[in-house]
Amino acid sequence: MKEDLMRLKEKTLEILSRSKNMDELNDLRVKVLGKKGELTQILRGMANLTSEERPVIGKLANEIKENLENKFSEKTQILKKALQEKKMEQEFIDITIPSKISLGSRHPLTLVLDEIRDIFTGLGYQVVEGPEIELDYYNFEALNTPPDHPARDVQDTFYITDKILLRTQTSPVQVRTMEKQQPPLKIIAPGRVFRSDAVDATHSPMFHQVEGLTVGEGFTMGDLKGTLVTFVQEMFGYDRKARFRPHFFPFTEPSAEMDISCIACHGEGCRVCSYTGWLEILGCGMVHPNVLRNVGLDPEKVNGFAFGMGVERIAMLKYGINDLRLFYENDIRFLEQFQ
Ligand code: DAH
Repeated sequence: MKEDLMRLKEKTLEILSRSKNMDELNDLRVKVLGKKGELTQILRGMANLTSEERPVIGKLANEIKENLENKFSEKTQILKKALQEKKMEQEFIDITIPSKISLGSRHPLTLVLDEIRDIFTGLGYQVVEGPEIELDYYNFEALNTPPDHPARDVQDTFYITDKILLRTQTSPVQVRTMEKQQPPLKIIAPGRVFRSDAVDATHSPMFHQVEGLTVGEGFTMGDLKGTLVTFVQEMFGYDRKARFRPHFFPFTEPSAEMDISCIACHGEGCRVCSYTGWLEILGCGMVHPNVLRNVGLDPEKVNGFAFGMGVERIAMLKYGINDLRLFYENDIRFLEQFQ
């Protein structure tokens, strides 16, 4: 029996030294030291021993059991440590590798809007905002555009109810501002506008405008021209020429559209400007007396000028972008050109 025990010990230690993972180790432990394991099997033979032999063998069996258990737990520690090291190696993150993550950039519309804002605040204008969901009254009626007015057809309107709509222009902010603030006042009003247009390279059901309004005493078209030519030169460069063409808007009289000399050909004539040498960039005019009356001002005492421009259009001209859709698709290859 003594030899059996010694053999079991040697054999176990030998297998133990070769076991490579916790599963093998656990299997071995159960096989040798478990309730029905090999050690128990051998000790069954105790019954046949003499009373002198029994304590000697018993002592030896206990020593071997204790010794093996120690070896098992030693090996367990070694395997666990190896496992941990392997895991650390796999999960190691080299924080010294130079990163390739690129920083975000501002959207071209934001860049242009910020520039417009800077130019006009530099001229003493205050920035105000109005609601995108607007009353028909502010979007049309108070702007001298009654229900049957043909100018309503030009702007295909998203109506929510008979009286409520998505604003088709930022001009209603003129009226809202004059209702609250007495002249003299100089405001610009940037924001989204909505028109029921199908999407193509030059149309979108949502785009951005910046409205401008100056009201006070004794303004002339000369003030309007001076302000807008300054704007154009700051925005597009001092060699840029501007011209005013008569136009019609219900809320201004007289009204005009302003053109700038073509960005691409500088007035020679090219495809960008349809061989005219000019590009239209905004609408403007002297505030119509009816608009002033609608907010309780006396057109005999105060007057002013107004203008409205499309932010996308200005961004397209400034950056040479030929498709409006690029602004809304958020293609990173497009956006990262505006770092
Ligand atoms: N609201 C006009 C539009 O969307 C643009 C405009 C023209 C605004 C003349 C004005 C203005 O304030 O005076 O087409």
